[in-house]
Amino acid sequence: MVNKPVAEACLRNQQPIAEILQQYLGDQRCLLEIGSGTGQHAVYCAERLPQLQWQPTELAGNIAGIDLWRRDAGLDNILPPLILDLDQPWPQVAADNIFTANTVHFVSQASVDNLFAQAGQRLPVKGLLMIYGPFNQGHQYTSEGNRGLDQWLKTSVNPQAGIKDIGDITTLAAVNNLTLIARHTMPANNLMLVFRR
Ligand SMILES: C[S@@+](CC[C@H](N)C(=O)[O-])C[C@H]1O[C@@H](n2cnc3c(N)ncnc32)[C@H](O)[C@@H]1O
Repeated sequence: MVNKPVAEACLRNQQPIAEILQQYLGDQRCLLEIGSGTGQHAVYCAERLPQLQWQPTELAGNIAGIDLWRRDAGLDNILPPLILDLDQPWPQVAADNIFTANTVHFVSQASVDNLFAQAGQRLPVKGLLMIYGPFNQGHQYTSEGNRGLDQWLKTSVNPQAGIKDIGDITTLAAVNNLTLIARHTMPANNLMLVFRR
């Protein structure tokens, strides 16, 4: 028996995230989400983008929780969640656009390299990769909160995890045929980076 998981942060950031997604994806038909977590973003955003078919994905242990949110929501445009591990071969799934929230700092640089390599190969020309989360600028933390988050990640989650630098990420994107077209300032020292294939 799995209880429906709740991430408090999602309750705070889901509205601003949905507003940005609506700006870019209002005429799009499908989106692949990486690291869907609880599934709250999938439900909140898919309800506000009814033309968009939303494919949540996660590590195996989080699939059941996402599916509880999906079933409770009863929305036609959320597909059953799939297992997708950045460090393993990806399932064959449509990826006209890709969105991920709060994953890039949570995983190693090698996993981020895999994300950009796959996005560069799978996105169609003009397809978008949208990444929400904290980033460093000029290899400096942008807030004390982000400094503390980075230290917590490295000590409590994964020594290889940590906040990535926006310059390094933009260079990695370019190597994979992705161009940074917008950078939105979001609440709590987060950004939404928008890359286009
Ligand atoms: C901080 S949570 C963010 C979840 C959700 N996107 C949100 O914003 O609430 C980071 C997520 O990354 C997932 N994750 C960690 N390693 C991963 C990997 N190798 N591939 C895919 N997802 C991974 C975790 O399972 C976790 O749900």
